[in-house]
Amino acid sequence: MITLPYGAQDLEPVISERTIGFHHGKHLQAYVDNLNKMQPGSGLSQDLTLEEIVCKSNGGVFNNAGQILNHNLYFTQFCKGGKALADGSLKAQIVKQWGSLEAFQTEFVAKGVGLFGSGWVWLSAKSDGSLVITQEPGASNPITQGLKPLLTFDVWEHAYYLDYQNRRAAHLEALWQIVDWSVIEHRYK
Ligand SMILES: [Fe+2]
Repeated sequence: MITLPYGAQDLEPVISERTIGFHHGKHLQAYVDNLNKMQPGSGLSQDLTLEEIVCKSNGGVFNNAGQILNHNLYFTQFCKGGKALADGSLKAQIVKQWGSLEAFQTEFVAKGVGLFGSGWVWLSAKSDGSLVITQEPGASNPITQGLKPLLTFDVWEHAYYLDYQNRRAAHLEALWQIVDWSVIEHRYK
């Protein structure tokens, strides 16, 4: 179980302390507990990394391992007040493909809003360094398609319902205020 790299209040008002308490302390903890119960009987080696489990499993093991990986990447990409995207290879690639960071952000939020039901919207890198936005249902992660996941917004209702109720778009737009782009740049390299 990852520890958060910030205090539970530090992402307010974008994500409340109460939501962090349920999302990290209850939902993610439950996925960790479930996987720990399921993996011994799954036939999967105890030596596999979380990424390897996600790529090799299905059913309940996949759902819980995928959700752990997704949430690990999600919770560790934020910081108090956010950190801007600096000039560099990632910014250059975003501008090359979308024209501007703002245009990328607009499409990313639209894909999150347009995802039916529970899931995740992702920015990932292909092996040639180009970028792609994907919508992943349920517990899925772009690594199952050979992509390198960089940035994700959780569109499961548990991520926002306490603070935003049904207003998914308002929640996703607010998340830009707390994204730590230095983390995303590090993942891209
Ligand atoms: Fe979540």
